[in-house]
Amino acid sequence: MSEIKNCAGETYPVFATGKVNGCSIVQSAVPYGSVWYLKVNVSGINGGNAIAPVPGQFYMLRSVRSGLLLGRPISVYNSRRISDSNVSIEFLILLKGTGTKELISLESGDGIELLGPLGNNWPVPAENSKVLCVGGGVGVAPVAGFAITLPKKSYDFVAAFKSGSYGLDYIFPEKLTITTDDGSVGIKGMVTAAIDSESVKKYDAVYACGPTPMLAAVQKICADAGVKCWLSMENRMACGVGACLGCTIHTKEGNKRCCKDGPVFDAEILDFAKIDSPVTSQRMARREPLAKNEEPDLSVKIAGVEFANPVFAASGTFGYGREYSTVLDVDSLGGICSKGLTLDGQPGNFGVRLIETPMGLINSIGLENPGIKHFIENELPLMQKFKAKTIVNLSGKSLETYVEGAKLLDKTDAPMIELNISCPNVKAGGMAFGMEPKAAASVVEAVRKATKKPLMVKLSPNAPDLIGVAMAVKNAGADAISLVNTFQATAINIETGRPCFENIRAGFSGPAIKPIALRMVYDLCLAMNKLPENERIPVVGLGGISCWQDAVEFIMAGASAVEVGTATFGNPLAMTEIVKGLRDFMAKKGYKTLGDFRGCAL
Ligand code: FUM
Repeated sequence: MSEIKNCAGETYPVFATGKVNGCSIVQSAVPYGSVWYLKVNVSGINGGNAIAPVPGQFYMLRSVRSGLLLGRPISVYNSRRISDSNVSIEFLILLKGTGTKELISLESGDGIELLGPLGNNWPVPAENSKVLCVGGGVGVAPVAGFAITLPKKSYDFVAAFKSGSYGLDYIFPEKLTITTDDGSVGIKGMVTAAIDSESVKKYDAVYACGPTPMLAAVQKICADAGVKCWLSMENRMACGVGACLGCTIHTKEGNKRCCKDGPVFDAEILDFAKIDSPVTSQRMARREPLAKNEEPDLSVKIAGVEFANPVFAASGTFGYGREYSTVLDVDSLGGICSKGLTLDGQPGNFGVRLIETPMGLINSIGLENPGIKHFIENELPLMQKFKAKTIVNLSGKSLETYVEGAKLLDKTDAPMIELNISCPNVKAGGMAFGMEPKAAASVVEAVRKATKKPLMVKLSPNAPDLIGVAMAVKNAGADAISLVNTFQATAINIETGRPCFENIRAGFSGPAIKPIALRMVYDLCLAMNKLPENERIPVVGLGGISCWQDAVEFIMAGASAVEVGTATFGNPLAMTEIVKGLRDFMAKKGYKTLGDFRGCAL
């Protein structure tokens, strides 16, 4: 990357640690708590000069205590040089997700990592010119940060919000117009309620930042009026310095990186029709939220078994239900998959059984279990007392032991069997049966003959032809499929120079695998949908689900229900929170049943 110098001859960007000098809620923003002021003091590196940003620039910000991989690009709202070696920078933070949540949780004295200043700047208006600044939502920050540097009353300012207003503390426009979608402040309506191609003709230039539809409208108004227009573009990015190419947009002058070639662009080169993908920008038809007294129906029927809701505890993460029964309301779950059971039980693996990784867990339990007879006598009666439906996870060392186990279970009142052909931690059986279609079909066929119970077959993501295995088990008599079990992974002990696990390879789970698991569930549901309706079987999705949004994604990918596993270890209430989150989401979106959005992303 070529070196950039600012007008003081300083080279930037730099990666520095600043100190938070206050983080406070913006009182006038609606909803309350959605926008925050974050003040940061930045010192020069090694006692050198601190670099001051110019209007239009931004920083990648991340708390030094962050649990996140990436910083978040945040525009400078205001900055002030305190001394040669110290600059105070103020940001407006809109609470959007986990990254911004971390930032607004910072307190005075906390450390914050800053990469910056980044990007180009707003072009300085010609002397004595009259300009219009337009800010939409939190896009008001970079425009206000620019307006602060203009002579007082040399500009007009239009600020557009959904509701309430903020970010106008330091500006002195000749005329300030506020619009709000709900009419709570200023003119009711969008930015187009305040400006049109006639009214902008009096300006020498327009400077705008905000949501893409607003920028597209401002671009058109200015083009129709023949007025110069500068737009600051916001986009997802990983690096901020032009390396990751994540924030690239297609323009009339070729590809441009928002972080490095922008964020400020001449509106003439922007083609908004090419900025949003036609595939992903489609929306589902909007529905009215459910009435206050109307409860969404979360129930789901899988292979004839009625579940009150689609959230099941995944095998191996919830024991037999009783282990967690004082911690959460087990009755509020849809189902509980037991720990994987084998005919005679087994002691499990020696040595290290668990290694935590960033957002993941590698396990090598080795199917430790008391055996099916012991389970039937001692655990099943207790499991059956819960309202959550029992799903018995059945594993085996050989075809024969799978069959014997199924026969024993067939005589019980357990409503469903999850046939586990995907455990990666045993030397015999388990995943060995799930790696290719023929072997998978053989065990399902044999177990199918041994029991009339609904059979859900749990697949391994490690199978080279996962769809082939899924179709084979379906044709062999599976009533449903659950996927994915854990991914084969490993870890090395750098002190001993040896693998951490006795079996070398172990099973990887947790939020880190969610996107891959989701893709696999999506692919399988897509393949299922291509079959005639009477040949399809339900898919239960799992793999890294830790919040209700994850569950919604799996259902939108076509899953009939979800299993939650590793997340429960860190947050034992994860599943009850997911049930509540799903219910609230459905009520808000006007979905009466899961079928109203199941598979909508396919
Ligand atoms: O090692 C284990 O007990 C894992 C079981 C599974 O993945 O099914």
